[in-house]
Amino acid sequence: MKSLITILALSFLCLTSSLFVSSHGLEPKDFYKDISKTVVVSHKGKADFKTIQAAIDSIPSGNKNWIKIYLKHGTYNEKIVIPKEKPMIVMQGNNASKVVIQYNDAGLSNSSGPFRVNAEYFVAIDITFKNTYCSKSTPIIPYKEIKVAPSIILTADKAWFYGCNFISVQDTVADLLGRHYFENCYIEGAIDFIWGGGQSIYQNCIIYVKAVASKAMLAGYITAQGRGSEKDTSGFVFNNCEIKGDGMAYLGRAYRSHSRVVFYGTNMSNVIVPQGWDAWYYKGHEYKFTYVEVNCIGEGANKKKRVRWEKHPSAKDIDFLIEPKSFIDKDGWMAFLPSSLASLYSPSSIF
Ligand SMILES: *[C@@H]1O[C@H](CO)[C@@H](O)[C@H](O)[C@H]1NC(C)=O
Ligand SMILES: *[C@@H]1O[C@H](CO)[C@@H](O)[C@H](O)[C@H]1NC(C)=O
Ligand SMILES: *[C@@H]1O[C@H](CO)[C@@H](O)[C@H](O)[C@H]1NC(C)=O
Repeated sequence: MKSLITILALSFLCLTSSLFVSSHGLEPKDFYKDISKTVVVSHKGKADFKTIQAAIDSIPSGNKNWIKIYLKHGTYNEKIVIPKEKPMIVMQGNNASKVVIQYNDAGLSNSSGPFRVNAEYFVAIDITFKNTYCSKSTPIIPYKEIKVAPSIILTADKAWFYGCNFISVQDTVADLLGRHYFENCYIEGAIDFIWGGGQSIYQNCIIYVKAVASKAMLAGYITAQGRGSEKDTSGFVFNNCEIKGDGMAYLGRAYRSHSRVVFYGTNMSNVIVPQGWDAWYYKGHEYKFTYVEVNCIGEGANKKKRVRWEKHPSAKDIDFLIEPKSFIDKDGWMAFLPSSLASLYSPSSIF
């Protein structure tokens, strides 16, 4: 039975893989699994559970069917962990500004904050993830108040985010390990706020740079990508995104020796520092990085004063990186996402 399903899945993939279109993001109509069960969470009204963690705890270990956890409007003050043995969870709100998962907790890059995903096949839709540490220091954050304060920590392969907000100051999205896709998301922070050894595409996302100052204004860092060798397949790709904010930032600094970050077709406001990138602990070894900007526009995309070690890959190599199909979905895992995600788009797109 299992092998029949695999054969069906593979033939489905062959038929549909050509439908993926990078410039418009992924179409959930190319996904085909069904949701087997939905549970509802609300801490006020009628619901199956009062906390998100209780809903997660109700899912059996070794779960093999997609389960949706629907979050009613509200602010959920919780510190949540999705354990490794509970894959195939879809967590959905219906308006990110009204469904907020938050926690005030800073200091540990691998465990602070409201949300940690240790399981494969996790999907989140229309939810805000927020580390409320330091959230009152606006508009300019004093540098001495900056601490590592993730809004989400991803340690597993295969995660898919749509319409989510990620808000903090440092290490906002701890994209530590595995292949992840973010579409129509908003990510806010000041320092290293998208960081780790993840292999991810950020499609049509807004990147918001917060202001930091000690005596004078300081420049932060949008990314701190941790690719560690020539063989390491990780990297962060930003396609058709918008960078804005009220601070200043580098596009990235090298968290490890072969750090890889691509900005493609991205609109960058003047928040980007002219040199663009920082070698951090790898001065003299910049040739190992893959830092790329292609078809970007806006004041911040002016390359006149960029570091000389930006890379200029061939069109073919760039296509490989910006296409989900080649960069993060070679084995077709995305087709195993629930087809009911199609309702995110126009009703007529449901097949
Ligand atoms: C979500 O909520 C905000 C704040 O109330 C509102 O302005 C916005 O229109 C809502 N979005 C949708 C899609 O309903
Ligand atoms: C976080 O990292 C520390 C230091 O490497 C380690 O001791 C700890 O177990 C890690 N915690 C988690 C939750 O992975
Ligand atoms: C780029 O962003 C700026 C705001 O920072 C906006 O005014 C402009 O219209 C955008 N350009 C395009 C082509 O979207």
